[in-house]
Amino acid sequence: MKKIAVLTSGGDSPGMNAAIRAVTKKSMYHGIEVYGVYRGYEGLMDGDIKKLELKDVGSIIHRGGTFLRSARSEKFKTEEGQAQAIENMTKHGIDRLVVIGGDGSYRGAQALHKKGIKTIGISGTIDNDINGTDYTLGFSTAMNTVMEAVDRIRDTATSHERTFIIEVMGRHAGDIAAWSGLATGAESIFIPEKTIPKSEMMYRLKTGFERGKTHSIIIVAEGVGSAEEFATYIKENSDYDPRVTVLGHIQRGGRPVAFDRILGSRLGGKAVDLLMDEVSGMALGLEKNEISVHDFDYVFQKKKADELEEISVLSSELSI
Ligand code: F6P
Repeated sequence: MKKIAVLTSGGDSPGMNAAIRAVTKKSMYHGIEVYGVYRGYEGLMDGDIKKLELKDVGSIIHRGGTFLRSARSEKFKTEEGQAQAIENMTKHGIDRLVVIGGDGSYRGAQALHKKGIKTIGISGTIDNDINGTDYTLGFSTAMNTVMEAVDRIRDTATSHERTFIIEVMGRHAGDIAAWSGLATGAESIFIPEKTIPKSEMMYRLKTGFERGKTHSIIIVAEGVGSAEEFATYIKENSDYDPRVTVLGHIQRGGRPVAFDRILGSRLGGKAVDLLMDEVSGMALGLEKNEISVHDFDYVFQKKKADELEEISVLSSELSI
């Protein structure tokens, strides 16, 4: 009998539960046993593996986080760690695995694939930094969370005629900053993919206030620098007294929006289809609303920044 295991690894993202649910239900529909691996690769090495039943995935589609929990593992990068994980899988008769996570998790999945475990990846990260998919699982929810937070900040910024610098996550990628900046009408957006000088921000601030703008929202991707640095620069170069908000891990939590529930369900289902067809070493995403299937080497390539550049240019044109 075929047995599939599923794990979530790296930073959690809203929609992971929907993907686990889909892997579990679809497998069971086809008479395949499903095993949940707790705490990502750490749990795979520790043997924290449990058979999943339908009831385990009931009432989770709407919940943020991952009920399998997640971890970042240094040990799994070693030959010893990987051998330990494979031994545990073999003990359970498992030779197929769905890995839901980001770039680092995919590297672990590729290592297992090369060692004979049939492995499929689902791009679960709020950062949207994976090549071969238009949207990673959780990105849409994170963007909505940022949008709601910025809307609230704009209310108080307007009341007090203030400038706010808001730092958002994304690691080395500017997707959360660029997309949420466009959605909130931010006056300036700083992303690593298209750097603009801080002097440009000062120019926009000054001309904006001269034209009668009473407040200003500046969004900074963490990959560019800290919001505090930007605030210091503004204080040193003007009479403004900016406020700083670092949104932090609030961006990773919360109920997944419909898009992420649907994306997680579609990719989870597809992962089972592929594993049933003996496919391995592939990562799933969504391109032009169709499920994309690319090998891991392809998804490790740097994502093109054309879209972000377009959004960044448009945002600055709209911020007059
Ligand atoms: O990759 C997701 C992410 O939330 C990044 O945006 C952020 O830089 C990082 O994880 C934070 O990691 P941790 O949860 O380990 O602090």
